[in-house]
Amino acid sequence: MENLYKIPRHIAIIMDGNGRWAKRRGLDRIYGHREGVEAVERAIRFAKKVGIEYLSLFAFSTENWQRPTQEVDAIFSLLVEYINLKIPFLKENNVRLLFSGRRDNLSEHVLQAIVRGEEETKEGSSLTVLIMLNYSGRAEIVDAVRKIVREGVKDIDEESFRNYLYNPDIPDPDLLIRTSGEERISNFFVWQLAYTELYFTPVLWPDFSEEDFLKALYVYQSRERRFGKILDE
Ligand code: FPP
Repeated sequence: MENLYKIPRHIAIIMDGNGRWAKRRGLDRIYGHREGVEAVERAIRFAKKVGIEYLSLFAFSTENWQRPTQEVDAIFSLLVEYINLKIPFLKENNVRLLFSGRRDNLSEHVLQAIVRGEEETKEGSSLTVLIMLNYSGRAEIVDAVRKIVREGVKDIDEESFRNYLYNPDIPDPDLLIRTSGEERISNFFVWQLAYTELYFTPVLWPDFSEEDFLKALYVYQSRERRFGKILDE
């Protein structure tokens, strides 16, 4: 009964299906990403409304560089446009924007936008939106190990290892949602998903509505999280 009406603190989303959404309409994939940004906005509003504290969105993986340059450029342009346009909305709604992932091969233009987005929203205390950009879960673990080696740390356990991850202060996701019918983790949060509830839906990301989000929450609430223990009847 404990989980009934329980709102997850942290929801992570793999926003998949933008390309297929566009293709089904005979449009270029880029229109799917454009519509995907509308779905991002909807998800942020919904998360805020129901009191979720952390919303992580997988926007661009390290593997996504293998897409055609035109599509990669379009995704980054949409992101920069979103940051620049939405800072007032995010501030009004007390939302903090954070970016996670390797920053080394991002263009100066993108870097400036994300630094500005983080800086301008840093006071946001009701919802943190973590945008995963140029991110891969394995790369994050490798980066953590590199840091540990560099610092000459000799002894490490699970709790201290966490401090070397990109965002040690953000709790692990309670719920992972992946849209578009694919049922894989695809190198998203690899360390952090150990005990996360997984929810897969066939809905394509641009179509992901408040109702779909609510459905995912209901499924989460109906599950019993045991963390390896046996719970009393
Ligand atoms: C997955 O669909 C989507 C992406 C790789 C890009 C997602 C990026 C955005 C929605 C824009 C980011 C903007 C903000 C504000 C976070 P896909 O292209 O893999 O779809 P497919 O599997 O149908 O081809």
